[in-house]
This record gives sequence, structure tokens and C-alpha cells, in this order.
Amino acid sequence: MNEADHCLAAAPLTAAIEALVAAGGSTPEEAGLVARNLVGANLAGHDSHGIGMIPRYVESLLEGGLRINRAPIVRLDSGSMLVLDGDWGYGQAIGQRAMQMAIERAKQHGNCILGLSNTHHIGRIGHWAEQAIAAGLVSIHFVNVLTRPIVAPWGGRDARFGTNPFCVGIPFPPEAPVMLDMATSGIAQGKARVAFNKGEPLEAGLMIDSSGEPTTDPRYAVVPPYGALLPVGEHKGSGIALICELLGGALAGGHTWHQPHQGQKQVLNGMLAILVDPNALGTADNLREQTMAFIDWVRQSPPAGGIDHLRLAGDAEREHRAWRLAHGVPVDANTWRDILAAAGKLGLDPQSIDRIARAA
Ligand SMILES: NC(=O)c1ccc[n+]([C@@H]2O[C@H](COP(=O)([O-])OP(=O)(O)OC[C@H]3O[C@@H](n4cnc5c(N)ncnc54)[C@H](O)[C@@H]3O)[C@@H](O)[C@H]2O)c1
Repeated sequence: MNEADHCLAAAPLTAAIEALVAAGGSTPEEAGLVARNLVGANLAGHDSHGIGMIPRYVESLLEGGLRINRAPIVRLDSGSMLVLDGDWGYGQAIGQRAMQMAIERAKQHGNCILGLSNTHHIGRIGHWAEQAIAAGLVSIHFVNVLTRPIVAPWGGRDARFGTNPFCVGIPFPPEAPVMLDMATSGIAQGKARVAFNKGEPLEAGLMIDSSGEPTTDPRYAVVPPYGALLPVGEHKGSGIALICELLGGALAGGHTWHQPHQGQKQVLNGMLAILVDPNALGTADNLREQTMAFIDWVRQSPPAGGIDHLRLAGDAEREHRAWRLAHGVPVDANTWRDILAAAGKLGLDPQSIDRIARAA
């Protein structure tokens, strides 16, 4: 961290973000859901999907692309199948309610297929898998992103996809769950924003510039002229991004992206989520026993050179959470400046937000 950067404790930081979101007109319940979700992403180590999204949300709100205090609109409800429209509402609130409905259905029927469309940015997808895990459910999430395309298809020279995340959560009580939660680009777009704000280059092989040539400069993901992030795993990640677009966008009842971007700040997500109750499937004991045996087997692999210890999907987030809950959330100076400026755009005194965030 630079000297100008901040390290803020989670509780007062959450209170500050809650006050800021409430100033946009959200009910206390919605402001709380948004703030806890965003700070939760920071705690998990995903600053890309944490409080750094606030300036974008405020711009989207002021443009009319983000609507406050919305509830999911039910397009279809046939028991184990739900199709919901998020009505451009805060994804953190709509996502929570949509998942709660899907969890209730999965508990009742053994499974639920949830199609969710037209929801403003739903943040870290692992948050939704964690909600299902807390209810003892396995969940699989395919998500597309409707905003300026930022990822090139494998073999292409410009951006055609969003960072289309894919996520699977598997409960494994009393042990920690297994959770794969990944963008299908080499890095999430917000990670380029974080690097840009910190003035740091990206690793090689993650981006192309506006001419389609390789670059390590994150500016090409943040300010025009734009380049593109590259898909993770070459043609394979590109293929998964395509599937996320078609399942999360089209099958879920929403849209795919297929037009030039008009500069709007709105970012919508579509999500197809499949929830399965292992008890209803009759395989809960087998899932637990086989997961234990397999994880034990995999963890015995000797760490490769330069690796302190082997990690499985979900470990990194737990390690970050433990550290940041104990030591605070690092927030770089540029990100904090932009958040305080966003507070000003909502008519707040930015210093009041700063004071709440630093309260002991
Ligand atoms: N809402 C949206 O539009 C949107 C779009 C893209 C991404 N996202 C979110 O962005 C976040 C960041 O995505 P990302 O791809 O940059 O995540 P990442 O690369 O940090 O992690 C991806 C996965 O790899 C695992 N992992 C990390 N380090 C590991 C290691 N050393 N060994 C083994 N496994 C390891 C993690 O636990 C995680 O499951 C995710 O939460 C994702 O849901 C959201």
C-alpha cells in the first residue's frame, strides 16, 4: 500500500457505504444489502466487485440506468422453475430476493431453475452461491453482462463479450464449502480498474490494446480508446463465456449483447442459476464422503516451486476474509477519492462519509 492509501475496518466502512446508498433514495433495507454485499466482496479479496463499484452505480443511478427500491417481477412461476425480471434494480437487493425465492423452491421441490434478467450489476457471483450453500444447496450460475463489451473472443482482435462469470458452490458441512467463482476473462474487468487506479501494469497475456496488439497497460480496459481483455484458457474460456451469454442472457429470459456501446454507465446482468438439494437427490451422504476423500487426496499434492500451500476453489476468499476482518480493508487513494466524489454527487458532504468510514 502507498502512504496515501487507506485501511478501513469493515463495520464502519459498511456504515459509510450504507449512508451513501441511502442518500440515493434507497430504503434502509436496500442500502444495507448493497453495502454488506459490496464490503463482503472486498473482504473476500475481490476489490473489483466491492465498494469501488459505487462511483459507477451513482453515475448509472443519475443517468436513470439503475432504479432504486425495486422487487423482482415474476414472469413465470411453475414451482421448480422461476423466471424473474430485475427491473433495473440494485443487483445486490434483487439478487438476494431472487435467490431466496429459488432456495425456497429448491427446498420444496428438490431443485429450482432460476432465470433472472434485467438486473443491475449483481456483483460477486460467489455471494449468491454462498446464500445457497447456507441453505445446504448446490448451485450453478451462468452469468452474462450487458454493458460495453470488454473481452475479445478467442482469435478476435476486439471486444465482443462481457467478463461473463461462471460459479459453482458446493456445501460441505462442517468443513468449508467448495466454491469456484470466476470471470471467463483472464481477469475480471474491475481488476484492471484497480490496477489502473493504483498505477500498476497488468501481467503479460491478459489484454490487447485498441489495435488488437498485446499490452500490459490496464488503461485499455478503463479509458478510451478501449482494447480488450483476453478470455481465460484461450478457446476454452472463450467457449464458456459464449455459454454464459446464451444461458445467462437468452435462456434466462433476458438479452444478449450484440450492438455498439452508446456510452451509458448502466451495467445489467442476466443469470441462469440451477439449485439442487442433495438431500432430495438422495446423494447427500455420498456427496459429503466423496468430497472429503477427494479433497484430502488433492491437498496431498506437494506444492510447486514458489507456492506456499496448495489452494482449492474458495480457499483464497476465506484467507482474504480472515485477514481483512482482522486488519481492515485496503482501499487505494484514487478509489476512495472517487467514492467520496460520488457521495458529493448525491448531495452529501463527502467528509461526513469519510468520518463514518474512519469511526473507531
Ligand atoms: N457481476 C459481474 O458482471 C461479474 C463479472 C465478472 C466477474 N465477476 C466476479 O468477479 C470476481 C472475480 O473473478 P476472478 O475471475 O478475477 O476471480 P479469481 O481469479 O480471483 O478467482 C477465481 C477462482 O479461482 C480460485 N482461486 C484463486 N486463487 C487460487 C489458487 N491459488 N489456487 C486455486 N484456486 C484459486 C478462487 O477461489 C475462485 O474460485 C468473482 O467473484 C466473479 O463472480 C462478476
